[in-house]
Amino acid sequence: MTTSAVTADGRARMLADGNRIPLLGLGVWQIPDGRPCIDAVTWALELGYRHIDTAQSYGNEESVGTALRASGVPRDQVFITTKFFPGNRDPVAALEQSLRRLQVDHVDLYLVHWPQGGATWAWPGMQRAHDLGQARSVGVSNFSVAQLGEVTALGGTPPAANQVQFSALHYRRALLDDCERRGIALEAYSPLGTGRHLGNATVRKMAEQLGRSPAPVLLRWCVQRGIPVIPKSTHRERIAENADIFSFQLSDPQMAELDALDETGGTDRALEHRWW
Ligand code: A2P
Repeated sequence: MTTSAVTADGRARMLADGNRIPLLGLGVWQIPDGRPCIDAVTWALELGYRHIDTAQSYGNEESVGTALRASGVPRDQVFITTKFFPGNRDPVAALEQSLRRLQVDHVDLYLVHWPQGGATWAWPGMQRAHDLGQARSVGVSNFSVAQLGEVTALGGTPPAANQVQFSALHYRRALLDDCERRGIALEAYSPLGTGRHLGNATVRKMAEQLGRSPAPVLLRWCVQRGIPVIPKSTHRERIAENADIFSFQLSDPQMAELDALDETGGTDRALEHRWW
């Protein structure tokens, strides 16, 4: 059960390798490099976020690094994730470039961004990045149950996390169950359905009953299961609103009502369509 890995303060979960990942992070996918990204990361850190999720393919690692450094928040208090762009060949060389852009000497989590070219070829390089201390934890993203099976069959360091598109409307229950069985933390990206789920009638009605906005309801549905979430926003007030997910709970019937919104059929797949 996911929640067993949650820390006593309810704000983080332990990864299988012993590292701790905050349940709330700011995702910076689709935030343009420069002022918008610097502002979003700066606000998030001011508002108490201690987890920022970027990727080589987002083109904004430099802005994340600039904001992190200017914030004055000590490096060891912020969990930084980046992702290996699998159009490149060497995860270690690519991470060295990321570290330079981020102005840090290691990341907390380094993920294979998607299984382009197969599930396994990049994994030895990811493990090398881990062994070199450039990445404290290593994992994957957009991997299905079958692909997780291929990577874990390699032996060596297993993936600590699998970051996938996940929300009440994308409740990939078989994938979540498999991750839990293998001790892999499922992380939820697009937990608001890139904004589309905010208009869902059930979510809106529940938010009204709770006297909250739809976004915290959707995010709470994840964190109550011990699933890290990385909502994206470029607006300070929304970044603040998305952080208010530890001050209330959803009841079991409310969780069940949201569970029933799943449109994936409880799939074991990470994606409905490939983009590569
Ligand atoms: P914006 O960046 O303009 O604030 P996801 O995290 O699922 O990818 O969703 C991100 C989308 O949801 C973005 O379009 C973002 O818009 C919007 N969004 C994020 N937080 C909120 C919120 N609290 N209220 C309304 N919209 C939000």
